[in-house]
Amino acid sequence: MIRTIREVMSFLRSLACKIFGCGGAQSTAGSRGKVERDAQGEPVVSQEPKKNDDEFVFPKDFVWGTGTSSYQVEGAWNVDGKGPSIWDTFSHTPGKVKNGDTGDVACDHYNRFAEDILLAKRLNLNSYRFSIAWPRLQPNGRGEFNQHGLDFYDRIVDACLQNGITPFVTLYHWDLPQALEDQGGWGNREVCELFAVYAAKCVERYGDRVKHWTTFNEPWCTSYLGYENGYHAPGKKDPKLAAQVAHNLLLAHGMAAQAMRESAKKNAKKPIEVGIVLNLSITEPFHADDPEDVALAEAAWRGGCGAYLDPLYRGTYPADHAAKIGDLRDGDLKIISQKLDFLGINYYSRGIACKSELPYPIPGSTYTAMGWEVSPWALRGLLTRIYKEYGAKLYVTENGAAYDDTIDGDKVADTQRLDYIREHVRQVALTIKDGVPIHGYFAWSLMDNFEWAEGYSRRFGIVYVDFATQKRTIKDSGHWFANAAKQNRVSLTKM
Ligand code: FCB
Repeated sequence: MIRTIREVMSFLRSLACKIFGCGGAQSTAGSRGKVERDAQGEPVVSQEPKKNDDEFVFPKDFVWGTGTSSYQVEGAWNVDGKGPSIWDTFSHTPGKVKNGDTGDVACDHYNRFAEDILLAKRLNLNSYRFSIAWPRLQPNGRGEFNQHGLDFYDRIVDACLQNGITPFVTLYHWDLPQALEDQGGWGNREVCELFAVYAAKCVERYGDRVKHWTTFNEPWCTSYLGYENGYHAPGKKDPKLAAQVAHNLLLAHGMAAQAMRESAKKNAKKPIEVGIVLNLSITEPFHADDPEDVALAEAAWRGGCGAYLDPLYRGTYPADHAAKIGDLRDGDLKIISQKLDFLGINYYSRGIACKSELPYPIPGSTYTAMGWEVSPWALRGLLTRIYKEYGAKLYVTENGAAYDDTIDGDKVADTQRLDYIREHVRQVALTIKDGVPIHGYFAWSLMDNFEWAEGYSRRFGIVYVDFATQKRTIKDSGHWFANAAKQNRVSLTKM
């Protein structure tokens, strides 16, 4: 519920922030009735199956997973030698996070990970995506490694494997060691080299058991939300610095990929797969028949998605993007464009390009509790375009929705989230049916957790968490997802 102007602004800001990618200058609300639509009201992207033309069976090795991230679930922020991260500092600063919430305890996953991994098993999932907290392994981001931290992730990896769950490990999901922020954070190139050292150590330690690695989760959020508009840690508001950070993150990705592969060869003696996770969105023209809107949508694709996909896959930057980077050295793009074994796409909502201001909300569109438009069809367009233009091996690494859940005994009837997830999984099925290979789908999130600047006010889990007792309850969406994973199939009929 939106009650105050401030909340409205925060909604809009988070909407614009989360779905646009950099360079998104256009409005980002939903549109209905302007794009060519089928009888069910969905934009026509390709031939939809008719009702009863029904079931889709996913490939045998399709990955069904859920995700979490260290700061959002672990808690234990200052135990067993862990150093403070920028999110500890940020959430402890009054006024930065809604209701003064912090990740000090969060879901207490540090102590309850075994129970949580068993939950993933009960949900019939064959994969768990989690992140390693850099400051738990290296309290100051450099130098000696912390034995307790190393052991903790050993236990998580082993618990996954014992339960037949493949770990997908993210090395950076936003919790930079505070000590490194104090030395310039991601604006300082030295931090890229330190990240590569940390990444190589993780592969040395876990590479015998972990095959799937991603360097960064959503680097756009780190640079834009963290360094340009200040909505996330470390809360800086410096566009020039943010442009440098965006570049340095990709550079750190490339340096880490090299170091990780060397480490795998030397230590783990097993091949690893290295990827990165991006929050990209397809931008649709508000008026499909207006050349100006169409041109703006195309510009948003080139500027927003191209700013990441071009350097990673082609070793180039769009020219206007390159011009914003203060320190771009010869050889950087060669490092950035290391071979990528896979690309993770986090998708929540589409973007819309319009030459004039869009109304919000758009009549006919529905929105989640974050104020994000529900636009599942655009996931299919996004995946298809990335595959066609860049040939990426694709996973959907995050997709989900926040709604105001209520729990009644052991039941959480989260019909809207169930619909949201079912519709997006159906779009993944349609994409595969179109001939675009998608290798997995991870629902965000395994459980309700600390939703960054929104604190605990936004629930994204397919499992409900009572934060007072830490009791977990599988929501209806979780039951639906568990069944889809078990059957490895979904209905293609729109419900
Ligand atoms: C993504 C983040 C994830 C979570 C979801 C809702 O941008 O990667 O941690 O906050 O949004």
